[in-house]
Amino acid sequence: MGEVLAELRATMHDGGIVDPSADAELIVGHVLGVSRGRVQALALLGSALAGEDLAAIRRFGADRASRIPLQHLTGRAPFREIELSVGPGVFVPRPETEGVAQFAIDALRAAPSPEPVAVDLCTGSGAIALALAHEVPAARVWAVEKSADAHAWASRNVERWGDGRVRLLLGDITEPLSAIDALAGDVDVLVSNPPYVPEDMVPRDPEVRDHDPALALYGGPDGLDLVRVISRLGIGLVRPGGSIVLEHAEAQGPAIRRLLESDGWRAAETHLDLTGRDRATTALR
Ligand SMILES: C[S@@+](CC[C@H](N)C(=O)[O-])C[C@H]1O[C@@H](n2cnc3c(N)ncnc32)[C@H](O)[C@@H]1O
Repeated sequence: MGEVLAELRATMHDGGIVDPSADAELIVGHVLGVSRGRVQALALLGSALAGEDLAAIRRFGADRASRIPLQHLTGRAPFREIELSVGPGVFVPRPETEGVAQFAIDALRAAPSPEPVAVDLCTGSGAIALALAHEVPAARVWAVEKSADAHAWASRNVERWGDGRVRLLLGDITEPLSAIDALAGDVDVLVSNPPYVPEDMVPRDPEVRDHDPALALYGGPDGLDLVRVISRLGIGLVRPGGSIVLEHAEAQGPAIRRLLESDGWRAAETHLDLTGRDRATTALR
């Protein structure tokens, strides 16, 4: 097992993956159907691999070395307490978004209503919406996604994790959506991780550039086209005292605080993620 892990690490390193250790263990775990911790234990015990398992592990390693995201290979993406189905056509949920979801969860738990209402715009796989429903048991959550491909992944995830409290809509948030408009004044938390990459800033990582859908990444000249839409839409949806929670790129905090405040939001605040980067802004209606 140790030799196979070393071989996998070398294959992926040759493909340009700087730190392939975790991926090597996760690939072996995926093929064997065991946890990463169990793989580490099996390696320490000197357990052997052979036959079909070994061939499958080598195939996964070669695919990962060609920079296909690990989550597309396994079909799974852990997100907070749940595990989402993902693949081509949907944005792979990121660890930093788990922190963004935490702001929304805290605001939802603090809402006065016994059945607080959240809206997740640009839901992708449904990650944020489903984390909210899973961790705030009485919450009712609406989620909107424009891409039919992403919506199909989200539908599968809503079926698995939505507990009958997540309403998923296929729609474009730049156009009127009657089911969302009907929530005007009743929403406790509006949350979004929208596309926010400026259109001329093509990401360097092939996993992102070549496998995340362009619709999920680019947000116009300064990256904020959808943030402007969400801010204005949110002012009409969120109840007085309710919250907006937005994920964004590190440099966008000041511009987002300004645009939120000019739309009528108050107490706009930008927060650091676990790596010390400004990646989320919250404000109150
Ligand atoms: C950065 S991804 C985030 C996905 C998910 N919220 C997450 O955190 O993993 C942005 C998502 O917004 C969707 N999107 C882009 N433009 C949209 C629009 N006008 N209306 C609704 N969804 C849109 C994309 O298809 C993509 O799924």
